[in-house]
Parts: sequence; C-alpha cells; structure tokens
Amino acid sequence: MKNCQNIIERIYSDLKDIKDDGKVANYIPELGTISPNNFGAHITTAKKESFGIGDYDKKFSIQSISKILSLTLAYHLEGENLWKRVDVEPSGNAFNSLQQLDDDCGIPRNPFINAGAIVICDVLVTHLENPKDDFLKFCREIANNQTLEYCKKVAASERETGYRNFALCNFIKSFGNIKNDVEDVLDFYFHICALEMSCKELSEIFLYLTEDVKITYKEKEILNKNEAKRINAIMLTCGFYDEAGEFAFKVGLPGKSGVGGGIIAVQPNEYCIAVWSPKLNKKGNSYKGMLFLEEFTTATTSSIF
Ligand code: DON
Repeated sequence: MKNCQNIIERIYSDLKDIKDDGKVANYIPELGTISPNNFGAHITTAKKESFGIGDYDKKFSIQSISKILSLTLAYHLEGENLWKRVDVEPSGNAFNSLQQLDDDCGIPRNPFINAGAIVICDVLVTHLENPKDDFLKFCREIANNQTLEYCKKVAASERETGYRNFALCNFIKSFGNIKNDVEDVLDFYFHICALEMSCKELSEIFLYLTEDVKITYKEKEILNKNEAKRINAIMLTCGFYDEAGEFAFKVGLPGKSGVGGGIIAVQPNEYCIAVWSPKLNKKGNSYKGMLFLEEFTTATTSSIF
C-alpha cells in the first residue's frame, strides 16, 4: 500500500493527545484495570505487507471481535442451516439488549449482538467435543499463531457480573433456541470474549475475509467467497450495534468492535486493519479507534464506497 506507514504515523500523531471523551468499560471489572492511554494500529495487506504504529504489538481483550471467529466456525460447521437460529438484520439496539427477543420468539436479530453470539456459542457447544480447547485450536490454526490464549481473569470477571448474559441465555432457552446447558454455553461464551490478541495479530487473523487469501481449517477452506461476502455484509450492517450506520457513513468498511477498545475493519479487496484505544464512546465503541479509521479510509481513499 502506497505511503501507508507515513499515513498512519500522521494520523497517530494527530490523535494521540486529543481530548478523548470516552470511558474505559468497567462493567466487566477486570477490563477497568487497563491503562486508558494504550493506543495502536496495524494493517496487514492481502499481499502480506505489514504496517504498525503505537501499541500495535500489545495483547488486549478482544471481546466482541471474537464473535466474527465464532460465527465463522459455526458457519463452516453448520452451513446455511445456521440462519434458522439467528437472523441477519441490524438491531438498532445496544449490544446487550433483551428488548426484541420476545417479539422475535427467541431468534436474535444478528450474530453480533450478545443474544446472537450466545446462540452461535450454543451451536458450537453442540458441534465441538471440547468447545474451549477446540475453538482455541481453530483460532491458532487459521492465524498460524500458537501464542493465542484466553485470559482466565477476564473470563472469571465477566462470569461474576454476567447478569444480562445469563438473562439473555435463559430467555432464549425458554423459546427452545438454546439446546445445551446454560452454564456450559455461557462458560464458553465468556472465554471466547476473553481471547487476547494484539492489533498485529488481529489484522493477520482476519485476512481470510479479503478476497485473495485462502485459509484452511482441517484441510478445508474455512469460507468460500460467497460465505466470506456474507460475513462481511453482516459486519457492515451489524458490527457496531446502534452505531453501525455511523461507522458505514464515516469509515465505509465492514468492521467489528469490542468493549476492550479494539476495532477491526476489512477492505475486502486489499487489507485488514486493527486499532486499539480502550476508552469507549456512549455506544460502546472505541472513541479514538473510530476517528483513526475514519481518517485512514479518507487518506487512503480505500473505503468500499
Ligand atoms: O458480553 C459482553 O458484554 C462482553 N463480553 C462483550 C461485549 C462487547 O464487546 C460488545 N462490543 N462492543
């Protein structure tokens, strides 16, 4: 990518010391212990060029970004039947909302809100012999990176305060759309949210969502082109909850955020970018991360629009 390193250096220095109106998530107490000043970004291109700035090599809790990985594995294993269990419509609601489930008879609006991700975890608990170990092996294999781990402290902290997720899982089970034990499904869900990765690792693992990169799992391509197109489409329309429109408007790429302050975005013909800054805006998305990505797609004229 032409001038990429210069561009990210300029954006980084423009944003590094701006007043950040965001707040670090502390509803999961362990997440509240992170230094709010961490700030980094990394780009990996489909041609394997690599550009990083700031804290791009530090690992952090990727939280909801892992919902792309669990969705990918569930889609790989279950095929089109998956969409009988979870819809593909933006919710326009907060990520942990219970509101629409009653009217929608326990079918979550999409796989990226907590309700949908919990149903995806249920699908994986049915398919996998040892869900936590097998999911970690899947991530390590597709990233070609054996250092990936869950942070046990974050998973435990999330379980202790996971009242809403317990409510969501039990409520969905009352409609018959959770097949396994609630404890097992949520133990798995809390662990996948507690996966730790750096911006560099994130920008590498999601290269399978770009057109020319083929990644296999157990010797089978993880997603074909059409399936990758669909995951990108759900990221574009649902990756930022009730801020998905704003992200498409300002950044113009499929993406996904996490309450650890990370965001990944994919330019399907060209690259994957990950940014990290722990302070979140009111909608739960990284305040500086959003600004960084907006400036990046503008400076590189690389949005999909
Ligand atoms: O379940 C939760 O609330 C968190 N483990 C994940 C939430 C999250 O990252 C939402 N994303 N912006």
